[in-house]
Amino acid sequence: MRRSVKKVLGGSEAAEGVTVQGWVRTRRDSKEFSFLEINDGSCLGSLQVIADVGIEGYDQVLGMTTGAAIRATGNLVESPGKGQKWEMQASSLELVGTAPEEYPLQKKRHGPEFLREIAHLRPRTNLFGAIFRTRSRLAHAVHRFFEEREFVYVHTPIITANDCEGAGEMFQVKTQASTGKAEDEFFGKTTHLTVSGQLEGETFACALSNIYTFGPTFRAENSHTARHAAEFWMIEPEMAFCNLEGDMDLAEEFVKSLTKAILDGPEDDFGLFAKFVDKGLAERLKFIVERPFARLSYSEAVEILERSGKDFDYPVGWGENLQSEHERYLTEEHCKSPVTVYDYPEAIKPFYMRRNDDEKTVAAMDVLVPGIGEIVGGSQREERLDVLTDNMKKDGLSEEVYCWYLDLRRYGTVPHAGFGAGFERVLMMVTGVQNIRDVIPYPRTPGTCGP
Ligand code: 4AD
Ligand code: MG
Repeated sequence: MRRSVKKVLGGSEAAEGVTVQGWVRTRRDSKEFSFLEINDGSCLGSLQVIADVGIEGYDQVLGMTTGAAIRATGNLVESPGKGQKWEMQASSLELVGTAPEEYPLQKKRHGPEFLREIAHLRPRTNLFGAIFRTRSRLAHAVHRFFEEREFVYVHTPIITANDCEGAGEMFQVKTQASTGKAEDEFFGKTTHLTVSGQLEGETFACALSNIYTFGPTFRAENSHTARHAAEFWMIEPEMAFCNLEGDMDLAEEFVKSLTKAILDGPEDDFGLFAKFVDKGLAERLKFIVERPFARLSYSEAVEILERSGKDFDYPVGWGENLQSEHERYLTEEHCKSPVTVYDYPEAIKPFYMRRNDDEKTVAAMDVLVPGIGEIVGGSQREERLDVLTDNMKKDGLSEEVYCWYLDLRRYGTVPHAGFGAGFERVLMMVTGVQNIRDVIPYPRTPGTCGP
């Protein structure tokens, strides 16, 4: 019977005739037997296999070098060694795929920069195996969170003709026959890879009430930071009949729920992060789950920054964007907890955000967390047709392109709100990993696009 290493190591009783397949981590030979460690990526641990000289397939053992793919069949017996309960006494071995002696992954620990250069092999290391299993777990936790709250999962398009954030940071979509003229393009107009599924998400919220999207988004920002990628995944819930406060409440609940899912997950992967990546991780995540987030208006945040006496690289002042150094001061030093900042100046935010009664600010909010800064950005949307068209005029947006979006304000408009959470940023938060490139299977950043 075929079993994963995870099933075998987590099993509760001895078993006979079990087959395990995976890649060799190490092999030691003695006169009477060989000792192999097999990892199949199902969990952090490897299975120790004892293969006596002379068993079926033993003649291939010299080919079973580090990195080779093998299959081992035998009985599971209690392990006398420390650290694991079960080991395999093999009755047969099979070499499935060889690896040359100069296998790039050696027993010593390799740095993440080196491993990024061999992106096709890095999931075979302990750290990246743990990161990508956690990424999968986190994705399931996202769906569970919304499923439990009756949100409908909507697939919004990847190719679009609108620029949701109005920042002009888009990758254009062209065919090889493109002449550069909009009317000759494949779609009869200029199109891009989406920067956000929000606008299309709003149409579904204004029909199905509570929805979310979860998919890839693309930004041609020339940002060389450890928190920006050109291709990343975003989760965007949108709720009809909801205001900014309801939006902030959901965002806080969401961040807490995902954090808890990882804290409650398998101990081996989390233990690796807590031991080798970030020693303060467990404590910080417990704090995130247990304590309410701080809430500050943008104006309060600016006052705090002005009074901080800190010498920031970027200027602080009402009307200026909060830079990462400002965000990190607020969350790491001033609040010492996650903080939701709300009511930002209208001038620095996109056209769709709802104008507040003060006529200076909009009902926007960002969730900032220690170590990273912004992980969630959202707002209540402008549901009043006249204010929305006024905003679009100011931003030079065409009413023709966005007529479908304006229709939502013509036919049964409702207050509605939502947010976007950067999936990789949440993953960085729960693993303690400092560079976004290390939580993406194949990172795309300015100047790099690996296999
Ligand atoms: O704040 P942003 O730009 O908001 C929007 O796109 C809204 N349309 C969302 C909405 O209201 N539905 O992006 C949302 C989040 C950020 O808080 C950040 O976590 C992440 O997406 N993000 C990035 N993550 C990685 N690399 C980048 N270049 C990112 N840009 C934004
Ligand atoms: Mg933002």
